Amino acid sequence: MRDMNQFSRKKVYEEKQKYPNVIKTRSNEEIEEMIDDLLQKMTLREKIGQMYQMVRGANPFGSKLVERSFEESVKNGDTGITLGIKGWENTFKYQKMAVEESRLGIPLLFNADIIHGCDTIYPVPLGFACSFDMEAVEKAARMAAIEATAAGVHWNNSPMIDVSRDPRWGRCTEGVGEDPYLGQELAKAQIKGYQSNENGKRHYMMACAKHFVAYGASDGGRDYNTVSISERDLRETYLPPFKAAVDEGVDSIMPAFTTYSNTPATANQYLLKNILRDEYDFDGIVLTDYTAVTELIAHGAAKDEEEAARLSIDSTVDVEMVSDCFLNSIESLVVKGQLSVDQIETSVRRVLRAKIKLGLFDNPYFYIDPDLEDKLKLNPQHREIAHELAQKSMVLLKNDPYKGKKILPLDKNIKSIALIGPLVEEKKIEGAWAFVKDRDSIVTLEEGIKNKLSKECKIYKSKGCSADGSDLETAEESIRDAVNEAKKADIILLALGEVKEMSGEAKSYSRIGLPGAQRRLAEEIMKLGKPTALVVFNGRPVILDWYDQNIPAILEAWFPGTEGGNAVASVLFGEYNPSGKLSMSFPYCEGQIPVFYRRLKTGRPHEDKPEDRFRSKYEDVSNHPLYCFGHGLSYTEFQYSEIVLSHQELIKDGSITASIEVTNRGDVKGTETVQLYIRDLHSYGLSRPVKELKSYQQITLNPKEKAKVEFVINEEMVKFYDRNMKYTTEKGVFELYIGTSSDNNQKARFEYV
Ligand code: GLC
Repeated sequence: MRDMNQFSRKKVYEEKQKYPNVIKTRSNEEIEEMIDDLLQKMTLREKIGQMYQMVRGANPFGSKLVERSFEESVKNGDTGITLGIKGWENTFKYQKMAVEESRLGIPLLFNADIIHGCDTIYPVPLGFACSFDMEAVEKAARMAAIEATAAGVHWNNSPMIDVSRDPRWGRCTEGVGEDPYLGQELAKAQIKGYQSNENGKRHYMMACAKHFVAYGASDGGRDYNTVSISERDLRETYLPPFKAAVDEGVDSIMPAFTTYSNTPATANQYLLKNILRDEYDFDGIVLTDYTAVTELIAHGAAKDEEEAARLSIDSTVDVEMVSDCFLNSIESLVVKGQLSVDQIETSVRRVLRAKIKLGLFDNPYFYIDPDLEDKLKLNPQHREIAHELAQKSMVLLKNDPYKGKKILPLDKNIKSIALIGPLVEEKKIEGAWAFVKDRDSIVTLEEGIKNKLSKECKIYKSKGCSADGSDLETAEESIRDAVNEAKKADIILLALGEVKEMSGEAKSYSRIGLPGAQRRLAEEIMKLGKPTALVVFNGRPVILDWYDQNIPAILEAWFPGTEGGNAVASVLFGEYNPSGKLSMSFPYCEGQIPVFYRRLKTGRPHEDKPEDRFRSKYEDVSNHPLYCFGHGLSYTEFQYSEIVLSHQELIKDGSITASIEVTNRGDVKGTETVQLYIRDLHSYGLSRPVKELKSYQQITLNPKEKAKVEFVINEEMVKFYDRNMKYTTEKGVFELYIGTSSDNNQKARFEYV
């Protein structure tokens, strides 16, 4: 019987103490010498092992089962990187196995998906993108890194920085929304948060920018589908966040499952070698996505595993995730001269360099600390960080007066309230890519509301129907119950939306209205003629046209995470004045998709004139989304002055200062995200977007306070890929727009001369 206390807390600290508890600082030369020394000792098989990332146990995602034991692979050096293992019990066990039982004792790298929080979960990325607050995003990412590294994870498959304009694609929930500029900012903020050198790099977690590239452009919004975009789309829309990630020093990149120009990204030399390695000068680790090397065969781009391995490595992939083409094929490819040992050693160097820089050769247990792990996870400071970002991520979509009075913010002294809907007491509001062990750590909407209300307030509650449509047959009865409960209250709060499993990977839907009988429930509730507000919990933009027409107040809460209920309640009761701005447009209907602000004008633009006939439009719906990119209301009103330009002309190497005065006309403090868009009115032989976000600033104003906001317009803001795809500038007239959203702003003109 194995001595079980060999994996006890006590044993961890005994082992840790055998090594220095500090990461040695080494020069690059010293690091390369260490690697040279290791490479000389390693067999080819052991080198390949450092290029293979394994999951424990069978491959749960259904593709080719990998018939090899995880533990045997650790012991014989067939794998140097794990996926999804965290927590001191696990990381200590396997690290000890690698260090003590493999021939060279090379420590393992523990990699996992910490997409928006480790134990303390903050909003889904599409949600926190709406905060437009990069400090808050960085702080949350830092918190995630602190919790994850204390749990022994060194490498994170985040940030996911895919731009997407298609809410049918379930993974838009993990990404940056529809705009490349916001995507760049989000990439930088998260990488700064993860790859922090604070307190001796104790909580440094390697980041992995994914999925390189344009996965979010999957045709039809169908996951893993083909991608049909031009080189221009690639460069103007989908690459900018990755360029920003590389410039920010991201340690690794993950190619997408999808293709570019019909070549799978995993074996796409143009993307990985020409652009990423050569043009961006990226020398970090390229880690494939899950079984993506094997999937080259399904793509029809490789005839067998050997060809798949060769194509990937020739494209400068370094590490294969889960499928074992590299392990099965590289030795024979080297023998046949179809791969060189140099190529293999280049990749192995990158992996060993990461391990040395993380200090794993100084102390393989450096990141493993049971007491610290327990102390850090879900602590009050972390909850506060999650709570703050959740508040800032919420978007007030609508807040019209009802019988002359606005329903939101709610009055804490209300005598009664009805909480109606399937999301009222739902605990699973953390989003698709969050792995919550302690379900009770999540604060529901009901709990959050109760934390705010006086004990005298009478709370009526009814689920009304399920959020996943599983009760369509019996819903009429539960809807009647809900109506009967709602009748008793002075005010009604509807809590509707998706369930956690409805967005995320492999969750594409052709219809994205609120599932099941939720619309029926809302229809019956609205017939009561009582003041009613709606809170929506969802991972992606959903179809809200009926709700917008019938419900006076609507708050977008996304999947807000651990502190969700408290954060929503603080916004509903006005403790926090909502400041979120949509990171992705909400269409009126699926038929409009893709609908996004950064569109072209076309040769027959539709100007919403009824007499327009032969114009680019639909006969049955507007060209505009229900809620546009950058939209988000406040409990106060921000008034914008005219734009004042310091000059009418922008000269080479010069700049123009555009200033605007913003006044808080209401009686509550509020934060406004002032957005700057630019439009190139004419380019020689090229149609340019009607607007492009180029900058934004957040200002917080007290009631009646005003502030001047200034933007410096420079040459970089007017650069573009000309008709020959040359990144350049061109003289001409530009319009600039400054305002509260992409379709509500002041306008001014300048000329680049
Ligand atoms: C998944 C995802 C990727 C993730 C990886 C490991 O299929 O595409 O984003 O990091 O597998 O879980």
